[in-house]
Amino acid sequence: MRKAFSIVMAAALAGSMMAVTVSASDVANADKPVAWFNRQPSNSQTGELDMDALTWNEDTYYVGFDAKQGAELQGEMIVDYVKAHGAELDRNGDGVLGYVLCIGDIGHNDSIARTRGARKALGTAVPDSSQGKESIETIDDVDSQPIGTNTDGSATDVQDGSITLDDGTELVVRELASQEMKNNSGATWDAPTAGNAIATWSAAFGDQIDIVVSNNDGMGMAVFNAWSHENNVPTFGYDANSDAVAAIADGYCGTISQNADVQAYLTLRVLRNALDDADIMTGIGTPDAAGNVLSEDLFYYDEETRCFYALNGAVTADNYESFLDATAPNAAFSNQLSEDDAPVKKVWLDIFNSTDNFLNATYLPQLQNYDKIMNLEVEYIKGDGQTEANITDRLANPGEYDAFAINMCKTDNAAAYTAKLQ
Ligand code: BGC
Repeated sequence: MRKAFSIVMAAALAGSMMAVTVSASDVANADKPVAWFNRQPSNSQTGELDMDALTWNEDTYYVGFDAKQGAELQGEMIVDYVKAHGAELDRNGDGVLGYVLCIGDIGHNDSIARTRGARKALGTAVPDSSQGKESIETIDDVDSQPIGTNTDGSATDVQDGSITLDDGTELVVRELASQEMKNNSGATWDAPTAGNAIATWSAAFGDQIDIVVSNNDGMGMAVFNAWSHENNVPTFGYDANSDAVAAIADGYCGTISQNADVQAYLTLRVLRNALDDADIMTGIGTPDAAGNVLSEDLFYYDEETRCFYALNGAVTADNYESFLDATAPNAAFSNQLSEDDAPVKKVWLDIFNSTDNFLNATYLPQLQNYDKIMNLEVEYIKGDGQTEANITDRLANPGEYDAFAINMCKTDNAAAYTAKLQ
């Protein structure tokens, strides 16, 4: 079924691409559509949105997913599993359920939200004093700092929690260790660093580790492959990358889908609509001429901040079979646009890190599912994960492109890109 679909699509594309000569328009670079994606322009210390970047011109948007809803869902998924699995989870029988936490990037709002969501759900959260918080109402109030090691429970950025399992057993919950997984050259969400961390942690206090929680699947799978699979320690990630979903059959405990198909489609779709002077909701909230549309339960749009957010879903042993191919296109929005309505245009798009698992294994193939059906010729650039200039230097001739899709190394750095478009 999928194969037939791709063949038809490939044939349609071959026809359409040959017929058209692409020419960059004479629109000023500063007026061309911009889609920020995956890293929301914002202050990496406070999380405050960078409205200058989000309203750079009237055709600027951000596409991401609901970080808070996803983070709460991850926390809930972990707690449900723990409660249902009983006291056998406490591997050394010391009455303390110990977990380690792999943090992606302490300045990235998705990562911060996930750390907060896990801590709040597991009862280890403390109010974020750096924001002047004295109590915890929502996950936004939770301290998200890494703690290093905390085998004795003395860390101040977390506290010992407690959990009552479905069988009535009460266990103390302790965050034994957490660390930002940043490599020596500065790349964040770094899977090999997570593999090294678990080697260190397990050598020092392996019998105390009962659960592994990770801000993403890249790091989660590194830990699973290096240690937790062999030791039967429940491991949870985020992103629903294909390899992580497949590993659920083999003991990986769960992940969260951030609906990369929806995000990839939206990233290109907002550019397409802006280029066509179409209503921004065309093919999103309302069907386009080809019948593409997103159902309401998949996304929402915050008009004031010009941000589109995909919603998240939990992927566990109960439902993983339908998530096995994270790169499959979604038939509800895979219909070829006509070149009469949507003439071929050129887009410059960067991925901040050529080794980021989620962006390269899931998001990029999804972008490639939708670029040609939208008649967008996309030049994909990949960065090294830490040097913004390594990417911006490759935007030397913005005049050659009609629109831009930008994934920054650091959420504070939007101006490094817009400077190129002045
Ligand atoms: C993903 C991570 C990824 C990061 C990159 C997040 O939304 O969940 O896996 O490493 O984006 O910016």
